[in-house]
Amino acid sequence: MKHILVTGGLGYIGSHTVVELQKEGFEVIIIDNLSNSSIKVLDNIASITGIKPAYFNIDLKDKAAVKNFFTSNKVDGIIHFAASKAVGESVQMPLEYYENNICSLIYILQELKANHLNNFIFSSSCTVYGQADELPITENAPIKPAESPYGNTKQIGEEIIKDTTKVSDLKAIALRYFNPIGAHESAKIGELPIGVPQNLIPFVVQTAAGIRKELSVFGSDYDTIDGTAVRDYIHVVDLAKAHIIALQRLLDNKNKSQYEVFNLGTGKGNSVLEVIKSFEKVTGKKVNYKLVDKRAGDITAAYADTKYANEELGWKAELSLDDALLSAWKWQETL
Ligand code: WQD
Repeated sequence: MKHILVTGGLGYIGSHTVVELQKEGFEVIIIDNLSNSSIKVLDNIASITGIKPAYFNIDLKDKAAVKNFFTSNKVDGIIHFAASKAVGESVQMPLEYYENNICSLIYILQELKANHLNNFIFSSSCTVYGQADELPITENAPIKPAESPYGNTKQIGEEIIKDTTKVSDLKAIALRYFNPIGAHESAKIGELPIGVPQNLIPFVVQTAAGIRKELSVFGSDYDTIDGTAVRDYIHVVDLAKAHIIALQRLLDNKNKSQYEVFNLGTGKGNSVLEVIKSFEKVTGKKVNYKLVDKRAGDITAAYADTKYANEELGWKAELSLDDALLSAWKWQETL
């Protein structure tokens, strides 16, 4: 039975990945400091899979605690989600973002190197590309200067991992997510934004639920099909499944180099207005919205070139935008 550590395993993408790991027969250990998640997610995961993962409430900024964990726990693989992830907040609190996202990563990598634990999956983001010059975006697209400290922590994190693989037996895969949305079909786990949602889909579902008065559509004169910004919205369950495939690639020593990068998206771009229309179609709910100015730091369009992940990982997104939006609504109805 392979033991897999999932940091941030009670978070949005983390919890969906834990469910898929358990379905594949892995023994899961979660580390989560509950800074952006709820302990209730542990039982919700168990209610889906019938197995309650081992859980440690450790703050990964605590170097001694990280060392102590790896001294007393043997793991065969690590999937590292734990990080602060709000773009706007990172602009207001750069030091907290650099300390949390970078120090945690360094302390984990130090223990992996010391203990020769070498199967490491890193949660990265398409935000490293900024506004790509060419669409769809391939893994070879140039990395642009980050627009936010959050995005910078992902770029720096990838560099730290790459450099570590050069001086150790660490094998690592960085997964660059496009826009994760939706929830597990059971509606037992999903996105749990704290406070006013920053991301589009949580705001859409809360507007449809009457929690928010109306959605502000940030920008309506972009150079896109209808003037609103375009993103590649990928169902979180498709994303979770890609993590299992990437992990298995390392466990089976199928990786072609010690550091690999894959874009995880559907390959399809949708505008904000298309998302609203799709949501209203699949749920029958109305979304009140108004067109307002662009949000600082936003890019016009991003969607993935999925060829490399398809051919090299044998993975492709299977769920549609409609599936994801309906699942997000079903989850919201349980809250
Ligand atoms: C999507 C689109 C907004 C809210 C960021 C990070 C990425 C990842 C996901 C962490 C944009 C528009 C949004 C609203 C709107 N982060 N929008 N009204 O900015 O593409 O990506 O979040 O995992 O790394 O970069 O996602 O959901 O915030 O925005 O019009 O109330 O929806 O302008 O065009 P984004 P988002």
